[in-house]
Amino acid sequence: MTSNLQAYRGSLLHFLADPAFSDQSHDWFEDGLLIVEDGKVQAAGDYATLHATLPQGAVVHDYSGKLLMPGFIDTHLHYPQTDMIASPSEGLLPWLETYTFPVERQFEDTHHAADVADFFLDELLRCGTTTAMVYCTVHPQSVDAFFTASEQRGLRMVAGKVMMDRNCPDFLRDTAESSARDTEALIQRWHKRGRSLYAITPRFAPTSTNLQLQLAGELARAYPDTFIQTHVSENEAECAWVRELFPNARSYIDVYDSYGMMRPRAMYGHCIWLDERDRQRMAETQSAAAICPTSNLFLGSGLFDFERADDAGVLLSLATDVGGGTSFSMLQTMNEAYKVARLKGSYLPALRMFYLATLGAARAMQLEGTIGSFSAGAEADFIVIDPQATPLLQRRTARSESLEELLFALALLGDDRAIAATYAAGRQVHVRETT
Ligand code: GUN
Ligand code: ZN
Repeated sequence: MTSNLQAYRGSLLHFLADPAFSDQSHDWFEDGLLIVEDGKVQAAGDYATLHATLPQGAVVHDYSGKLLMPGFIDTHLHYPQTDMIASPSEGLLPWLETYTFPVERQFEDTHHAADVADFFLDELLRCGTTTAMVYCTVHPQSVDAFFTASEQRGLRMVAGKVMMDRNCPDFLRDTAESSARDTEALIQRWHKRGRSLYAITPRFAPTSTNLQLQLAGELARAYPDTFIQTHVSENEAECAWVRELFPNARSYIDVYDSYGMMRPRAMYGHCIWLDERDRQRMAETQSAAAICPTSNLFLGSGLFDFERADDAGVLLSLATDVGGGTSFSMLQTMNEAYKVARLKGSYLPALRMFYLATLGAARAMQLEGTIGSFSAGAEADFIVIDPQATPLLQRRTARSESLEELLFALALLGDDRAIAATYAAGRQVHVRETT
């Protein structure tokens, strides 16, 4: 059997541990080489050392002067909301009624869903995001359209059909039974087919009856290696609504807990208005938080508390939450996360932010060793970052005196323009056009 071996030269960065808790959090090879064979990482290290191991005649793609790192992982966003990004509204609940629900109605139409899925995935790749946890709509065909498009691009993606059987317009309402039936059929069709992974997706507690949540929990137990994704404690008005709807629950996240939905591979979006017991439960069940700073600032939802989450040992990741979020770029997401941390009196080093967008997210998803790093055997999803992408970045990064300063400038000033190329399973899936 002939193997397909490719090598890439550039400055290599990937993470080994969380910089907040380890002094040896990353590998950095200023003149590095990434060797990819059959879509997987074969080796990553110093150019001088590794070059000698290449078979004769191997092609080395030269990205000298640029950074090679694992592709970004965005752990919470909504592909159907692509066309309504940046819609003005006074907060979450009116925003859902006014913009979100009418836009999601259009995904009844498979052609529309396919068209948006194509644009959405290409936009993620332009921004250097190679894996995402994605909400579809209530329509099963919106999931088929999404996975068909991600499969065509060879991407590792997690997605699921929204389950929603109350407190929403009739045109988006399923029933507890139909949602469970559709979800199970979609799991059987898509989960672990190629690189696709399924997430059981009750939208959030207010739009599900007790029976729907119970059935979602039963599916989560029946299919323990699937993902779960939902929203929790995003906004104060939403939290008050949950208290009214579930008067017996100890807290918002306890609603999900009582139905068996806190477990590894459960991804909770937002997690702003949590208390200490909530955080403890997240940590002990290995449920993870998707932190959505652009969305939380945009909708005025609140500020994530990094320090308390770290004290409790919660698994953390960063997410755009498009279309509540205002950018597809994980660099822009870091920019806002940094400011949120400052407003809460804590400090997020750039190294930590890049960790959270790569290995940290992979850990939060229980996918360490598969994505998010250059460990041998990992899937070769990687990006090429150009520190000279814009005139301002060029001036600023020329003065960077450390890796931290370089990454910080990229996080604060970078966006899709900083992504020179994106690779998925060793195949180039985006290259930035230069003028
Ligand atoms: N809560 C329930 N649905 C949504 C949604 O679509 N976006 C956000 N940001 N919060 C939600
Ligand atoms: Zn969301």
